[in-house]
Amino acid sequence: MARTTLTRTVLAAVAATSLFALGACSSDAGNEPAGGGNETAADDGVITLGFSQVGAESGWRAANTKSIQDTLTAENGFDLKFSDAQQKQENQIQAIRTYITQGVDVIAFSPVVETGWDAVLQEAKTAGIPVILTDRAVDSDDDTLYESFIGSDFVKEGTTAGEWVVENFDGDGLKVVELQGTTGSAPAIDRKEGFEAAIGGSDVEIIDSQTGNFTRAEGKTVMEGFLNKHDDIDLVFAHNDDMGLGAIEAIEAAGMKPGEDIQIVTIDAVKDGMQALADGKINYIVECNPLLGPDLAEIAKAVIAGEEVEKRIVVKDEAFDQAAAEEALPTREY
Ligand code: AHR
Repeated sequence: MARTTLTRTVLAAVAATSLFALGACSSDAGNEPAGGGNETAADDGVITLGFSQVGAESGWRAANTKSIQDTLTAENGFDLKFSDAQQKQENQIQAIRTYITQGVDVIAFSPVVETGWDAVLQEAKTAGIPVILTDRAVDSDDDTLYESFIGSDFVKEGTTAGEWVVENFDGDGLKVVELQGTTGSAPAIDRKEGFEAAIGGSDVEIIDSQTGNFTRAEGKTVMEGFLNKHDDIDLVFAHNDDMGLGAIEAIEAAGMKPGEDIQIVTIDAVKDGMQALADGKINYIVECNPLLGPDLAEIAKAVIAGEEVEKRIVVKDEAFDQAAAEEALPTREY
């Protein structure tokens, strides 16, 4: 369960009603025209919430989707309309416009990239539909375009990763390659910024950096390229576990031992990453907690009730070395 600065009402964790459809499509979205008899929350006590998810690019994303679908249930007072944007901003904008047309009570989304949202958010505001951001921020000068942003501090995650590297390797002339998340996304921008700030002033050096789009497959391909280009890589900093797991495959295929010949530091702490850490193939993981469903439900209910909500809700994250991963794994939720 996400640990936040909020005092949260306890929400029942019940099995998801099957509202999730694969692909760039909506589930339970219906195609009702605007004003087609939609009841508002005030009418029927049910909050119709349209959620546009980034995609299904990583283990983290799967856990995040499950948390939202398990929490925003009919039993908990929600009618969830869920769509998967397949990592494309145009799909998210289209989904948001559909939710506006349908007259949902609340729109929530995790923006695939930071910029380019003002126009569609203004349309939601004009239609009187409140918007809640989850996981990723938008880069906008107008913070009246959304009610609240619930998510981790990505800069801090990058800083924590960089501090561990400096603490363990400063003075060794460490050569780092970086697997960046999706270009233009908040976590890719912020984690890079935090990591670079933390290694500043040390002799740790980033010798190459490229996006692996937060996926295992692209992480592997980019790491293969790094290995062909450089014979002096000491450490991989991957912006998520999945890309780190892809790097492990590339390192092993090149006849080296991940975690020994090349150290690996990642962000997320999903089960597969934590298992690799426990197995000694990853050396350190900074957590990014994906269980945002309960906070989203609470904030959506408060917004509909006309209550004041916090503009920024920071989800607290931990960090794990091998021993901590071994201890945490048996009870790990995601
Ligand atoms: O926005 C959170 C990031 O998105 C996670 O770290 C990554 O795994 C996901 O794809």
